[in-house]
Amino acid sequence: MRLPLRSDYYAQVDNGDPFAPPVWRSPVYRTPECLIMAVQFFRTLWWLIRFIIRHPLLDLAVTATVFVYLKASWPGLVALAGTSGTLLVVLRFWRPAWFRRFVTVPAWSRWRWLRYRIRWNSVLDVAGLTEPGRSRVLVPILGKVTAGPCADRMTVRLVGGQSPQGFADKADHLAHGLGALSCRVRTGPPGRIVLELVRRDALAIPIPAMPIPSQPDLRALPVGRCEDGTVLALRLHGTHLLIAGATGSGKGSYLWGLVRALLPAIVAGLVRIHACDPKLMELAFGRPLFERYGCYAAAPSQIADLLEADVTAMQDRAGRYAGRQREHTPTPDEPFVVVLVDEVAFLTAYPPDRKIRERTLGALATLTTQGRAVGYSVVAALQDPRKEVLNIRNLFPDKVALRLDEPTQADLMLGDGARDRGALCDQISSHPPTGAGVGYLRVEADPDPVRVRAAFVSDDDIRAMTAEYAPARRVVPVPALESGAA
Ligand SMILES: Nc1ncnc2c1ncn2[C@@H]1O[C@H](COP(=O)(O)OP(=O)(O)OP(=O)(O)O)[C@@H](O)[C@H]1O
Ligand SMILES: [Mg+2]
Repeated sequence: MRLPLRSDYYAQVDNGDPFAPPVWRSPVYRTPECLIMAVQFFRTLWWLIRFIIRHPLLDLAVTATVFVYLKASWPGLVALAGTSGTLLVVLRFWRPAWFRRFVTVPAWSRWRWLRYRIRWNSVLDVAGLTEPGRSRVLVPILGKVTAGPCADRMTVRLVGGQSPQGFADKADHLAHGLGALSCRVRTGPPGRIVLELVRRDALAIPIPAMPIPSQPDLRALPVGRCEDGTVLALRLHGTHLLIAGATGSGKGSYLWGLVRALLPAIVAGLVRIHACDPKLMELAFGRPLFERYGCYAAAPSQIADLLEADVTAMQDRAGRYAGRQREHTPTPDEPFVVVLVDEVAFLTAYPPDRKIRERTLGALATLTTQGRAVGYSVVAALQDPRKEVLNIRNLFPDKVALRLDEPTQADLMLGDGARDRGALCDQISSHPPTGAGVGYLRVEADPDPVRVRAAFVSDDDIRAMTAEYAPARRVVPVPALESGAA
């Protein structure tokens, strides 16, 4: 409550002259000492009660220690420490996952919280993320910290009126100030954000080709690894995928990763791959495989024919499904069709023949707008994500942005503000062992880009896949007919 201004707030500093201009001074209120003590006492008590309620395990440990000490003095405490240590060792080897979840992660998280808390106020102050309050500076509150193997996630309660964008703009300040390689800002519930502080690049080492799944799940095909150590599982059924990256950024490892993960379903006739390879460099390697279980086209006019045939087949299927079923289930008669297009710009922007460009673009637009419900998925790769090159970019719900040349291209691919939220595509290393296949995935359901790396499907892996699943046709000798058997 603001007190009315009274005349005794004016002071004549070192001057008894009544005509001198008066100087305004803040009033000094004298709060009774006992009141201050009482407030501080209740505040500490409240903090203590909250602490006890929030840390039941610690309460248990302290109670047990005190109880044992009272009952058995020092020998009891030594026995208790020995038993606890043995139990922890047993847990570590018997259930490593439990040990990690209940011991290692909480201990590391607490330790990291302490380290961040020490620097928190000063870093936020220098970064300009504190707000001047009436009587004190308001600092966003550092909440729970969860330590991961390579990155820590911390919840932050914003000062009223602050926005996540303010933090995203200062991500560099936060990363350097808190001793991390980079900092990504994730949106949380209203009034809260999650900061992801990357301490170590978990994706710096190439990942060998993933094992071929025995029963591919078309909604989660394993093609690599996410930064948090989980498997990167891409969905194809019911969506389309666009992959953009500068030359040598590793787009091929996504295309081949998907083919590899689909192989058993392809061989079973549940999935067909229609490969379009205008550059003749990427998919030509698996030509026997595609020709045996799908089709392969390289010349722009052939590709336009293939895509238009796909549109007709898709519309036929849609006509048959209309009013009968709304979802597609792959069967050998109605397989799931993956239209794989490498270097889509060679078809939609660069060919001199305008007619081919228009036919290809029209067919791709129809497949991407109508295909997902009837079992058609388009997976396209390109180097340059600008609208002039592919103006149907937004018809692809899921996107992967690999190394890109300009900072603004991350937003073009993954949506406005993606770079601010941590999709630093322009900072991915151009050294293939470190950066090829590294990128940011944005799926339809989640606006936050996730850092991922595709496993490297080498030429030898592709050769082995082709040799195993589409061996060169051997000439089977026709048994000689016995005379008269005809
Ligand atoms: N996932 C990966 N992990 C490690 N290295 C990779 C990976 N993917 C590709 N590479 C390496 O990077 C090189 C370039 O990869 P790739 O040909 O797939 O790039 P690209 O994006 O298709 O390039 P372009 O646009 O020129 O076709 C490969 O020869 C390979 O050595
Ligand atoms: Mg390529």
